Amino acid sequence: MHVSEAVEARRSIRAFRPDPVPAAVVRTLLEQAARAPSGGNLQPWRVHAVAGAALADLLARVRQAGFDPSPAYDIYPADLWEPYRTRRFETGEALYDAIAIPRTDKAGRMRQLARNAEFFGAPVGIFVSVDRRMGPPQWSDLGMYIQTLMLLAVEHGLATCPQEFWALYARTVATVLDLPDDQMLFCGVALGYRDDDAPINTLRTTRAPFADWGRMIGFPD
Ligand SMILES: Cc1cc2nc3c(=O)[nH]c(=O)nc-3n(C[C@H](O)[C@H](O)[C@H](O)COP(=O)(O)O)c2cc1C
Repeated sequence: MHVSEAVEARRSIRAFRPDPVPAAVVRTLLEQAARAPSGGNLQPWRVHAVAGAALADLLARVRQAGFDPSPAYDIYPADLWEPYRTRRFETGEALYDAIAIPRTDKAGRMRQLARNAEFFGAPVGIFVSVDRRMGPPQWSDLGMYIQTLMLLAVEHGLATCPQEFWALYARTVATVLDLPDDQMLFCGVALGYRDDDAPINTLRTTRAPFADWGRMIGFPD
């Protein structure tokens, strides 16, 4: 598989088959993804993959505890401005359109949102944390790791969904995973086999045209 094919094929998957992912495959993915670059080669990511009874226990503890009093960090800046506000809104609408939940069905939308806290049924939940003393450059390194992991997953016939939603449960997750105090949960990544029958997985998000965000300077015409 070419890298460009993996990039094209990857998308956030929000319904998984229950089939387990072999431990050796998960381990290989986690290790290969660590070839991701990081500033100063700090490799600031800490990665915690959870499956089986441990995952079931974690999800039960999260259900019982409910949201943390405040999220681990602000998932979006307050009062998101254009064009980001519209992009976020339209992506949300496209997601709920895919499963035919209209804006008026608030309870239906909440139920779908709550599926985040079940890793959308994925058999593997991966948590990525970072030392609290690290700054934005190291957070970007986490992104490098996560995208590398997600592309490698495609090569293995696996699907993923990165989930900042877990910032809403960071304390409970930290307790269950016994994270040291210096570790801050950044996000979760659902990992497993895509449920091809689930309407939500038909979502194909759009991208803004190059002219909106890119420039080419000094190139020949
Ligand atoms: C860091 C990060 C966190 C995300 N958090 C969530 C999340 O909590 N729940 C969710 O359903 N999708 C989440 N997403 C998925 C985005 O909604 C998705 O990447 C975006 O809409 C583009 O769609 P695509 O991944 O299918 O290309 C997250 C993506 C990233 C990169």
